[in-house]
Amino acid sequence: MKKWYGTNLKMYKTPSEVHTYLSELDEIAKERDFQKMNLFVIPPYTALQQAKEVLRIAKEGETPSPILLGAQNMAYEEEGQFTGEISARMLKELGVSLVMVGHSERRHVFNEGDQELNKKVLLGIQHGFKMLLCIGETKEEKDYGISDETLRKQIKIGLFGVKKENLNMMLLAYEPVWAIGKDGVPATKEYIEEKHKVIKDTLVELYGKEGADVPLFYGGSVNHGNAVEIDACNNVDGLFVGRSAWKASDFEKIMKMTE
Ligand code: PGA
Repeated sequence: MKKWYGTNLKMYKTPSEVHTYLSELDEIAKERDFQKMNLFVIPPYTALQQAKEVLRIAKEGETPSPILLGAQNMAYEEEGQFTGEISARMLKELGVSLVMVGHSERRHVFNEGDQELNKKVLLGIQHGFKMLLCIGETKEEKDYGISDETLRKQIKIGLFGVKKENLNMMLLAYEPVWAIGKDGVPATKEYIEEKHKVIKDTLVELYGKEGADVPLFYGGSVNHGNAVEIDACNNVDGLFVGRSAWKASDFEKIMKMTE
């Protein structure tokens, strides 16, 4: 399986900052071997137009950048009276090919639930997006000893109704809530392997052996000190990086040390 690298820029960079960041990353991408890896960046909505330009997506006569453009969320309805929401069609027009749903901040700050995320997954598949579903237990769930139940529930509801033939549209990221962000503690190698096994086993239970082919990333305080060890874990198919990737040269370092 090709190795995946991705970053979510959350609510940090403005359109002009994304322009600079992606220009640098696109230069870096020239030195990378895209036969062996995939790379995606998920900027804020307001920077997508800029990103589309920089990455030369659907630009006549130009070869598009190999960097895939992602969106941080998407509405579960096609259109309508949903002030503040962004639809699949809007994202399509902006060159987005990957849509992330269920990031821990969406689940826990904005109270998005599994059923709602499932609707987004199904709609996104219909529109031909790669759908990146993020899952992960909170510290409280971990302390109660129900991490596995939480993950299994998030997968079973999140993927409800997703057909086997559409599994190739799915990506999963395991991001324990307690491991994310500046106060996060990265999960240990043993813990990551244990939970990634639970996730892959659940996918196999749902879909048979093809279930294990859904790429599964780890995210949550991936940094220069732990990237090599995490990358080497069983069932880790990619690194989903936040803070440590927000300088293009830092992200490059992570790619180089794990290639
Ligand atoms: P972090 O963010 O690497 O800064 O912990 C990860 C994420 O939220 O995806």
